[in-house]
Amino acid sequence: MNNKPWHVLDIDISNAVRKDFDFNKLKDETTVWDLWPYNRNTINQLFTPEWLTYMNDIGLPPDSATIFYRSPFFVEPMAHVDLFQNPIRPAVFALNWVVGDSDDSEMIWFDTPETPGEYILYDENEVGTRTMAWPMSFFDEDKMTRRTLGNQLTLVATGRPHNILVNKNPRWCISVRFSTRTFNIQSWDEATAFFSKFIINEPLTTC
Ligand SMILES: [Fe+2]
Repeated sequence: MNNKPWHVLDIDISNAVRKDFDFNKLKDETTVWDLWPYNRNTINQLFTPEWLTYMNDIGLPPDSATIFYRSPFFVEPMAHVDLFQNPIRPAVFALNWVVGDSDDSEMIWFDTPETPGEYILYDENEVGTRTMAWPMSFFDEDKMTRRTLGNQLTLVATGRPHNILVNKNPRWCISVRFSTRTFNIQSWDEATAFFSKFIINEPLTTC
């Protein structure tokens, strides 16, 4: 049973983000949470050409990326599964990291309930963020898996209900996604098998 919903990857992100990229310019002071999507035509505004070439060379050409911002101590009342459109199905995985050296937030995961959640469409943009979401009260916290991602590229299960517990520090997360035309990955088992050569083994932490 391949139940661990995250794996740290041996992929260098030290030069991924453009030196002139200013995260704080994206939001105004009142922003509690937000997201900014980059598609294949705009992704070079976020990432350096060197990193995009490196990713291409190791067989992982990014198709899109999203920046997620969460203010200190903000926790969404719902946990969700990320969805692809056409046809609608779970987006099984993403490659995420948290910008900076002071991540004290936790990504948390739960088992998928048998009862379908609420379908939510956040925006109409090209990346199109869609989720299926359940109230946090729906889940058993004793069965929660948690992980502080920090500044390490991490394969995360986005096809399982997940949420973020933000602590003292604001959280800027970068999430890299791939075209379903590039990788036809339908399950978490397939995702971990595909990325196995990059995975750094670390112990599972649960609470
Ligand atoms: Fe998500």
